[in-house]
Amino acid sequence: MTHAICIHETGGPEVLRWEAVEVGEPGLKQVRLKQTAVGLNYIDVYFRTGLYPIAKYPIVLGQEGAGVVEAVGTEVEGLKAGDRVAYPMCMGAYTQQRLIDADKLVKLPDSIDDRTAAAMMLKGLTAHYLLYRTYPVKAGDTILVYAAAGGVGQILTQWGKALGATVIGCVGSDGKAQLARKNGCDFTINYSRESISRQVREITSGEGVAVAYDSIGKATFEDSLDSLKPFGVLASYGNASGPVDPFSPGILAPKGSLYVTRPTLATHISTRELYLEGAERLFKAVSEGVVNINVNQTYALKDAAQAHSDLEARKTTGSTVLLPEG
Ligand SMILES: NC(=O)c1ccc[n+]([C@@H]2O[C@H](COP(=O)([O-])OP(=O)(O)OC[C@H]3O[C@@H](n4cnc5c(N)ncnc54)[C@H](OP(=O)(O)O)[C@@H]3O)[C@@H](O)[C@H]2O)c1
Repeated sequence: MTHAICIHETGGPEVLRWEAVEVGEPGLKQVRLKQTAVGLNYIDVYFRTGLYPIAKYPIVLGQEGAGVVEAVGTEVEGLKAGDRVAYPMCMGAYTQQRLIDADKLVKLPDSIDDRTAAAMMLKGLTAHYLLYRTYPVKAGDTILVYAAAGGVGQILTQWGKALGATVIGCVGSDGKAQLARKNGCDFTINYSRESISRQVREITSGEGVAVAYDSIGKATFEDSLDSLKPFGVLASYGNASGPVDPFSPGILAPKGSLYVTRPTLATHISTRELYLEGAERLFKAVSEGVVNINVNQTYALKDAAQAHSDLEARKTTGSTVLLPEG
């Protein structure tokens, strides 16, 4: 019998329940997948707590996974039983087996193992669109990366460096600062005790950064604006501290004609073409060792509640993978 982590209501990690579920046969354009690794992402917390609404309960939580195709629908092209595949941004990942639309999947190259894939699809494709599309990073840019020791943060740092940027990483502790520097940050700011914007001005000789990749949201929004150089971009892409409060666009003029955007990976993989462009670049970067995916924690899938508690308590670093077979 297949087991999955379901939620029947919003709440703390205790609402995550390990339950038996029916999977069934794939529809015409679907695939049945036996999952070998599941990615843990901060968006899972937003759905669990209700910050991001869920239309209907109960639901299997989770957005990212990797595994082996078991069966394909009659209209599926290009996939067959036995293929190794992975996906980001598709609700229902916290499970041993699942049905999924075939066009959400990409085949994995031999150079990328299943745990690495589950640790990098959502986070790596996010780093890709932030660095290549939201603000295309150029050699010589100085960029600000929040939660630089975390999942997306470590990938952004390594990839940003490879594109020729100087990376300033914001972190919540001195231990994380050490890790972030080892991972490639040129400078770190411990925002639990240092002013981000003051430190950024000091590091950049008053100039400011070209872009702030801010995943913290409410707590850091103003500091991010105050760290930018004229025409700088604030990519506010997450809400780990809560959603950003409403603000007037008028504040952007005197700070230097700034740009603010609130992007999501959902848009950046909304066509197969956009999705594959990102996946190809990500697979190349990982296969060639330009970006190392650091899986610093694994948990049995049935212990997802503990993984959520640790993620929210800022105890994790790098990527976290949940293992369906314990
Ligand atoms: N928009 C998109 O397309 C998109 C896609 C993927 C991820 N994201 C966002 O990217 C961020 C990173 O995701 P991730 O899965 O890789 O997680 P993560 O960065 O590994 O973990 C979250 C980190 O946020 C920091 N943080 C700061 N204030 C916090 C608070 N009040 N509560 C909890 N954590 C806090 C912590 O690092 P420190 O201790 O160093 O501060 C913590 O380790 C999340 O905000 C997520 O929503 C957005």
